[in-house]
Amino acid sequence: MSSQKVNVGLLGLGTVGGGVAQLLLQEKQRLSDYLGAELVLAKAVDLRPELAAEAGLAPDLFSSDASEILADPEIDIVVEMIGGLDPARGFILEAISQGKQVATANKALLASHGAEVFEAARRQKVGVAFEASVGGGIPLVRSLRDSLAANQINSCLGILNGTCNFILSRMTAQGEPFAQVLAQAQAKGYAEADPYMDVEGYDTAHKLAIVAALVTGSQPKLEDIPTEGISQITPLDIQLAGEFGFRVKLLAILNNAGNGAVEARVHPALVAEDHLLASVQGPFNALHIDGDWVGQVLLHGRGAGREPTASAMVGDVLDLARDVITGCPGRVPPLGTARQGGGVLELAPLANAMCRYYFRFTAQDRPGVLARISRVLGDNDISIQAVIQKGRRDIGPVPIVMLTHRAQEAAVKRALNEIDSLEMIAEPTMLIRVA
Ligand SMILES: NC(=O)c1ccc[n+]([C@@H]2O[C@H](COP(=O)([O-])OP(=O)(O)OC[C@H]3O[C@@H](n4cnc5c(N)ncnc54)[C@H](OP(=O)(O)O)[C@@H]3O)[C@@H](O)[C@H]2O)c1
Repeated sequence: MSSQKVNVGLLGLGTVGGGVAQLLLQEKQRLSDYLGAELVLAKAVDLRPELAAEAGLAPDLFSSDASEILADPEIDIVVEMIGGLDPARGFILEAISQGKQVATANKALLASHGAEVFEAARRQKVGVAFEASVGGGIPLVRSLRDSLAANQINSCLGILNGTCNFILSRMTAQGEPFAQVLAQAQAKGYAEADPYMDVEGYDTAHKLAIVAALVTGSQPKLEDIPTEGISQITPLDIQLAGEFGFRVKLLAILNNAGNGAVEARVHPALVAEDHLLASVQGPFNALHIDGDWVGQVLLHGRGAGREPTASAMVGDVLDLARDVITGCPGRVPPLGTARQGGGVLELAPLANAMCRYYFRFTAQDRPGVLARISRVLGDNDISIQAVIQKGRRDIGPVPIVMLTHRAQEAAVKRALNEIDSLEMIAEPTMLIRVA
C-alpha cells in the first residue's frame, strides 16, 4: 500500500452514521488494502456525544461542531448523515465550496435541492455521491448512472419504502386492517413514531424524484409528482385484488410515455402475481428497470437499516476516495450526464395517463345497479374486463368490483364523480391503478 492517506469526516452518528463509523473503523485494513491508500476516519460530529462511544470512536475523533470537519483542509471527503434540509444543505454546500468530495444519504434534501447541490459540485469540480439515498443498500443509483447508461430507460417501477411494503405484505398475509398492522410495524421498528411521510407516499416520492433525475438528467419538482399513500387500502381490496390475480404494492412509477413525455407518480398499484415485483416481501425494496438494450432488470435488497445503508455509504466513500488518490475529483458528474443545467423536468399530467383500473363500488343491492354503473363507464369510453359481484347480504350495501381495460385517467375521474353521485351508491368508490 502507498503512504497516501484519504481523510474522511462524518456529519451525524445516528442510525446510518453510527454504522458508517463502525464499518470504517472495523474494516479499516481491508478497505485501505482495497483502495491502495490508508482510509482514515479523521473526525465525526454529532449533537449527542454518547453516540461516539457507541460507534467505538476514540474521544479525540469526536466533536459537536461541524466546522471542525468543514474547515479542516486535511479532510478530503465529507459524509453527510444528519438528515433534514437545514443545516444539512448549508453543510454540504460549504463542504463543496471547500473543494471536498461529498457523500450523502439525504433523499429529502436531494429531492428538493439536488439541482443546486449538483451544480455547485460541477463548478467546484468535486464529486457528490448518493447511493444510500434511494434503496438503502441496493446499488441502484450507480446501476442507473453507470452500468445502464447506454440505455434509453423505458420505465422504472420501484418498491422504495420498506415501511409500506411491510404493512401491505402483512395485510395480505394476515388479512388485518391498516391501523393494526401499522402499530405492529412501529413495535418492530419498521415504522417511525410519526409514519406520515412513509405511509402517505412522500418518502417514496423523494426517491422517485432522484430516480427521475438519474434517468432523464433533469429533476422534477416534488409538488408535480402525484402522490397517494396506502392508508386507504383495506384488507377487502387486497383480498379482491387477489381474486383477480394481483397483489397490492405501493409503487414509484417512472414512464417514458413517448414524444418526450415523462410520467412520474406514486400510488398503490395492482401488480400481477407473476410480475417480479409481486414477490418483494416485508421491508425489502426493489427497482424494476426496463431499458431498450438491456431489457428487464430487477434490483432487490434491503432498502434501509444501519448495515445496508452503511454498506452503500462506504461504497460511495471508496469511489470518491479513488478520485482523490488519482487526482481527478468530480470525474463522474453526480447524475452521470455531462449535459449541464438539466433544468426542471416537466411531467406529463396525470389526467393524460392511460392504464387499467380496479374499482370497488359500494352499492345498494337491488336490480339495475350494475347496468347503471356500466352505462356511465361506457359513456366515458371505459370498457370493463372483469366483474366480481359479491353475493347478497341480509342488510346493507354490497361491493361490486371491476377491472377495466386501458382507460384515460381524466375519463375515469369523470365517470367516478358521476357514479358516486348516484343515490344507489353508498360510499365513495375505491380506485386502484393497475401497474
Ligand atoms: N435510517 C435509515 O435506514 C436510512 C436509510 C437511507 C437513508 N437514510 C437517510 O440518512 C440520513 C440519516 O438518517 P438516520 O436514520 O441515521 O438519522 P438519525 O438516526 O436521526 O441520525 C442523525 C444524527 O445526526 C445528528 N444531528 C442532527 N443535526 C445535527 C447537527 N447540526 N450537527 C451534528 N449532528 C446533528 C442527530 O442528533 P439528534 O438526534 O440530537 O438530532 C442524530 O444523532 C437521513 O437523511 C435519512 O433520510 C436513512
